Amino acid sequence: MANILVTGSDGQLGREIAELTKKRASSDCYYFTDAAELDITDALAVETFVEKNSIDLIINCAAYNKVGEAEKQMDMAVKVNVTGPANLAATALKHNIYLIHFSTDYVFNGEARTPYHEADRTCPINAYGRTKYAGEVAVKKSGCMSIIIRTSWLYSPLTQDNFVRKMIGLSDYYEEIKVVCDQIGTPTYAADLAEALLKIIPQLSKENPIYGEVFHYSNEGKCSWADFAEKIMSTLKIDCDIIRVTSEEYADSVRRPAYSVLDKTLIKKRFGVAVPSWERSLSKAARLFKR
Ligand SMILES: NC(=O)c1ccc[n+]([C@@H]2O[C@H](COP(=O)([O-])OP(=O)(O)OC[C@H]3O[C@@H](n4cnc5c(N)ncnc54)[C@H](OP(=O)(O)O)[C@@H]3O)[C@@H](O)[C@H]2O)c1
Repeated sequence: MANILVTGSDGQLGREIAELTKKRASSDCYYFTDAAELDITDALAVETFVEKNSIDLIINCAAYNKVGEAEKQMDMAVKVNVTGPANLAATALKHNIYLIHFSTDYVFNGEARTPYHEADRTCPINAYGRTKYAGEVAVKKSGCMSIIIRTSWLYSPLTQDNFVRKMIGLSDYYEEIKVVCDQIGTPTYAADLAEALLKIIPQLSKENPIYGEVFHYSNEGKCSWADFAEKIMSTLKIDCDIIRVTSEEYADSVRRPAYSVLDKTLIKKRFGVAVPSWERSLSKAARLFKR
């Protein structure tokens, strides 16, 4: 039986992990915390929590994910996405325990036209991506036992703030919605990532330690945000037209990668995790998105 700390657990991934462990009746003891219980930017609080509760593994789901606002709130984004992981990594190193940390497809510049491998050159083009990349570096540099999982376009029916909910919400007011069609990536149902995570955990060994290795996990396949929106409408049987616009026409103030599909070969081979297609996972999640 292990004591497992989950940080940022009120978010999409954290809630899916909580849901899954509840269903599975895991024999491990999970400590689900969000900023109110454990602020990862507070090094002393992190160390005290881990020491007091004899934590054996840290799963960091905490993040500053507001891509647009990160441009103006760089200090805040750096605190949560860089200082926080650095604190967790320092404590993991001190206690000789694993840290599982999450990062993003936005560490890439989007100039590729084939799926990104873990070792491909990173070159974030916005503030959010830069802070997430710096978080990866902080975890690696710490020298603690760790894996870093990059994911993309995460959504969960257990929270309010994601693309699927946004589309459903807008469809209540508008008959047509403009969505960008020239950014290609892969949606990821957070429940699938939680499932993969629970398959990975028992395979992490101290005898054969991993230090800061990066893995990619998203659902299988690729689409544009406009394709994703169309599929949301058809799957949920919502009568709303998606108007396909370019990023230029949409006039978003933040640059986003034009292509950020992740190659999942490594994580599948190493840990034997399943990677369902994004369409199949959306269909599965759809019944949980109540209008
Ligand atoms: N969402 C995506 O589309 C996406 C895409 C690629 C990668 N990822 C990565 O995947 C991971 C999980 O993402 P997610 O979508 O589950 O994130 P999320 O829903 O935004 O959840 C993050 C949680 O962390 C909390 N938090 C913020 N600052 C904190 C602090 N100082 N200490 C403790 N908790 C704090 C947040 O609270 P508040 O809400 O109150 O701030 C929130 O509950 C993150 O590493 C993220 O960067 C996400």
